[in-house]
Amino acid sequence: MPTGNVLITGASGGIGQSLALHYAEPGRTLVLWGRNVQRLEDTARLCRDRGAHVVTREIDLADGKASLAALRTDDGTVPLQTVILCAGLSDMKKVSEKVEQAEMVLELGLVNYATPAALTMAAAERMQARGGGAIALIGSVAAFHDLPFAAGYGGSKAGLARFASSARIALAPLGVHVSLIAPGFVDTAMSQRIVGPRPFLVTPDQAARHIIAAIAKDRAEVIFPWPFRVLRLIDRLTPRPLREAIMSRVNADQKPR
Ligand SMILES: NC(=O)c1ccc[n+]([C@@H]2O[C@H](COP(=O)([O-])OP(=O)(O)OC[C@H]3O[C@@H](n4cnc5c(N)ncnc54)[C@H](OP(=O)(O)O)[C@@H]3O)[C@@H](O)[C@H]2O)c1
Repeated sequence: MPTGNVLITGASGGIGQSLALHYAEPGRTLVLWGRNVQRLEDTARLCRDRGAHVVTREIDLADGKASLAALRTDDGTVPLQTVILCAGLSDMKKVSEKVEQAEMVLELGLVNYATPAALTMAAAERMQARGGGAIALIGSVAAFHDLPFAAGYGGSKAGLARFASSARIALAPLGVHVSLIAPGFVDTAMSQRIVGPRPFLVTPDQAARHIIAAIAKDRAEVIFPWPFRVLRLIDRLTPRPLREAIMSRVNADQKPR
């Protein structure tokens, strides 16, 4: 399946911007979504400098219905062969707080899970009518571990992971290839808020290369960098009581947004 025209959500920052730059080339149309207009336009300008035709859209993925309408409008103008649902929000309980903020948990669910899941089906419906396409969902290794300080974030990404593996089976006969990408720490504004170490940190450029290769090879799931694949295996093999005892001692904190 050729890459063709590409939609990237979260193109105004971090990994999404790197993806846009990698895909930017003459003959390709990029549909770039983001919230921050200035940063979105910065990405668009850099992509146009590389010869791509670029369409931008300012949108808040917390509004699922507006996002679905936008997908259908944009795909009507630029038929999409590849959709990368990269935009995401992270948050965790600060050490000074007793519980995660309820409103933030709701927003995490909408932006990281509900809207990307709905957009996947909206895109698939249109792609299958044209013979197929590729959809990549950017999750996180947080999906694979019980993080007591980030139940909202980890839960939203775990939901996305299960959605991706189920949708992959459902959509394959229609020629729509779904991949889940689960990065570890990537050096972007998101992880720069974390107070403390970010082991096995990779650059946004390295992350983009992993994602592009995963789509090109139609991989079901890609976890990078590799130590997180080992950690996931250890997590799966550890009995629940021991896992809970370990995870209840793990803590983290973050700087204000
Ligand atoms: N960085 C990491 O260590 C890491 C690790 C694992 C997984 N990930 C995942 O990788 C993806 C990209 O993250 P990143 O590291 O590139 O983070 P980032 O630099 O903070 O960029 C996040 C992007 O998502 C967009 N976004 C956030 N909330 C949005 C909303 N409500 N509506 C529309 N767009 C929204 C942002 O748009 P604006 O800036 O325009 O608001 C921005 O373009 C996310 O799904 C994240 O969960 C990141």
